[in-house]
Amino acid sequence: MTIDISPATADDAAGLAACAAVTFPLACPADSRPEDIQHHIDTHLSAERFAALADLPDHTILCIREEGRIAGWSMVVLDQPEDADVLSALSISPVVELSKFYVHPDHHGRGSASALMGATLELAAASGLPGVWLGVNQENARAIRFYEKHGFRKTGTKRFRLGDRFEDDFILQQALPGGAGDAA
Ligand SMILES: CC(C)(COP(=O)(O)OP(=O)(O)OC[C@H]1O[C@@H](n2cnc3c(N)ncnc32)[C@H](O)[C@@H]1OP(=O)(O)O)[C@@H](O)C(=O)NCCC(=O)NCCS
Repeated sequence: MTIDISPATADDAAGLAACAAVTFPLACPADSRPEDIQHHIDTHLSAERFAALADLPDHTILCIREEGRIAGWSMVVLDQPEDADVLSALSISPVVELSKFYVHPDHHGRGSASALMGATLELAAASGLPGVWLGVNQENARAIRFYEKHGFRKTGTKRFRLGDRFEDDFILQQALPGGAGDAA
């Protein structure tokens, strides 16, 4: 099966928001408050927010496209991390951030996420930077397994704010081919 993956434009904003509204809750711990999840979706994953992200120079969103809808998306960011926990966890510098990675549940376990990860890692490597990192909730066992299958390794922890609570993330990183940088 061919999986159609290509970069997002501002025209994809509504489709990305629709996909994000379904997939973001799947990444939250089971005891997350529904109102906190909805607030995060409304403020950080709205069509307006995606339209703005599509115009940011150091951000690239890749979409899985299926019959006119978006069935998954990833976002890589070239800005360097400033969070002290992230900096202390990373042994490679400078790095690409794999900031978002979400696939519609209709596609879970079918290879679509692996295809999106392949395209996302190619995009990250094309930056010429020597490494890529991400944060994932420590309770998200499926995503952690998926990332480890795709070459990421745990290197530390950080906290993620959802509503008035803090959630604990693992930091994962992997080296990218061809990049030249400082590896501790
Ligand atoms: C994370 C995600 C992209 C992975 O895509 P996927 O199609 O589910 O991935 P795969 O099926 O290829 O791999 C998942 C692996 O986790 C395993 N798994 C499934 N449920 C699991 C669980 N509860 N605990 C541990 N492992 C689990 C699967 O068996 C599989 O491993 P295997 O290939 O060795 O059998 C997708 O599940 C998703 O979009 N989830 C919701 C959003 C999310 O959590 N995004 C990450 C935010 S950081």
